[in-house]
Amino acid sequence: MTKRVELYRDQSKSVYTSGNEQRLIFHFRNDAFAFDEPGSEQLDRLGEVNNKFNYFIMCKLESAGIATQIDRLLSDRETLVRRLDMIPLECVVRNVAAGSLCRRLGVKEGTDLSPPTFELFLKNDVLHDPMVNESLCESLGFATPAQLSEIKAQTYKVNTVLSQLFDDAGMLLVDYKLEFGIDSEGKLFLGDEFTPESCRLWDKETRVKLDKDRFRLGADGIITSYIEVARRIGLDLSEH
Ligand code: CDP
Repeated sequence: MTKRVELYRDQSKSVYTSGNEQRLIFHFRNDAFAFDEPGSEQLDRLGEVNNKFNYFIMCKLESAGIATQIDRLLSDRETLVRRLDMIPLECVVRNVAAGSLCRRLGVKEGTDLSPPTFELFLKNDVLHDPMVNESLCESLGFATPAQLSEIKAQTYKVNTVLSQLFDDAGMLLVDYKLEFGIDSEGKLFLGDEFTPESCRLWDKETRVKLDKDRFRLGADGIITSYIEVARRIGLDLSEH
């Protein structure tokens, strides 16, 4: 592949050109962030674990009929993906109350949400990703009504597939964030990532936190926890 140019970076990964106009490279870094504060800590193997976890989950979703950005795994920390024009929205589904929902509405953490909730946040670091609704998205041109309806349907479909996957492995998918994009022909794809950094996972019986909230709470062993989550769903990330 030809020389790579970094197009942008988010908290967990850098996105590079690949030499093929239709493909980009996700390079997962070892930077661990608590909340969205600047300054990061380096966690050995985090990039590799997130990269392989994301690839595994996206393949599961593809098998369930959800079109994703994934093309193929390139290396421990890199994945080749379809080039998309990203829709600037974060789509959050919650099965159980946690995080910003509790802070915003005073709901007790752990409250079951039935039916699961669907929220939209505008991707804007300066404004700290404010919550928006479908009317704002349409009027301000973030997404069309047709795209919004497909995004919502796909986000819920992901919930059905992944809630089952984690439930079968003794875990509760509390909430997660998805992002979508459009290819050059206008087709919608699930993009970005699904990792233990972009969802909340609790042990089903004990409700112990297995995701990045462990890091936020200062818990040790975040990588060990992610590797254990992966092992339970059938992905071996242990070092051989
Ligand atoms: O995680 P936080 O309490 O800041 O916000 P939230 O609205 O409760 O997050 C809901 C879900 O979306 C959690 O699983 C977050 O990890 C995820 N999320 C994310 O991956 N990236 C963001 N920029 C915001 C939320």
